[in-house]
Amino acid sequence: MDRDAQIKMMKQHVGIEAARLVEDGAVVGLGTGSTAVFMIEELGRRVRSEGLRIVGIPTSYDAAVRARSQGIPVRTLDDVERIDIAIDGADEVDPMKCLIKGRGAAHTREKIIDALAKVFVVVVDESKLVDRLGTTCPVPVEVLPMAIAPVMRRLRDLGGTPVLRMGVKKDGPVITDQGNMVVDVTFDEIDDPAGMERTLNNIPGVVENGLFVGVATIILVGQLNMDGAISVRRIE
Ligand code: 5RP
Repeated sequence: MDRDAQIKMMKQHVGIEAARLVEDGAVVGLGTGSTAVFMIEELGRRVRSEGLRIVGIPTSYDAAVRARSQGIPVRTLDDVERIDIAIDGADEVDPMKCLIKGRGAAHTREKIIDALAKVFVVVVDESKLVDRLGTTCPVPVEVLPMAIAPVMRRLRDLGGTPVLRMGVKKDGPVITDQGNMVVDVTFDEIDDPAGMERTLNNIPGVVENGLFVGVATIILVGQLNMDGAISVRRIE
């Protein structure tokens, strides 16, 4: 099995394991991304075959479409007073359970919903664990389109290298579910993720950034064992 196939298997295991944590009657934040898809599919299976009664609060149009196709009832934040559990992927996880999210440009809604949840379960494969955030991926920053130029200047002043995210199979920039653009910012080092999260969000024109500090409750990590079997490690 090649590495891509192994990673897909790890994502599948961890997504299914996370879906098993959801209890009857729960309001569930539904994450975005290829790992979250496995969780949504397993929840759908449980709804259809076990009669699990849940309400899903999707973190993106993509999660909403996938949840509906699985028979999971979908609601908005206007309809619920609590979120019992949110399950979502991440691009990097550090030893303090701080995250970088937003490869799918969904980090603004993800942060709102994941932060509201009583329990936020992060589902990742082992390749996402890093000693220091920013090692393998940039920090996505969602920006109002009219503020792109000054925000990019400010990001350079902060020592970052900002790149406007461009569409795939779409000419021009990526447009988020909120109608904004995304700037991916590479920093040499992120020594203080909490400070950086605040600094980025203080730039006028920035809607939200992909640093998630103090939000995650549990990290479930899909890992490949020496014997070739895949297991799920839980970090609390
Ligand atoms: C989307 C996200 C995703 O959760 C994150 O990119 C992880 O994705 P995947 O499970 O496909 O690796 O933050 O905005």
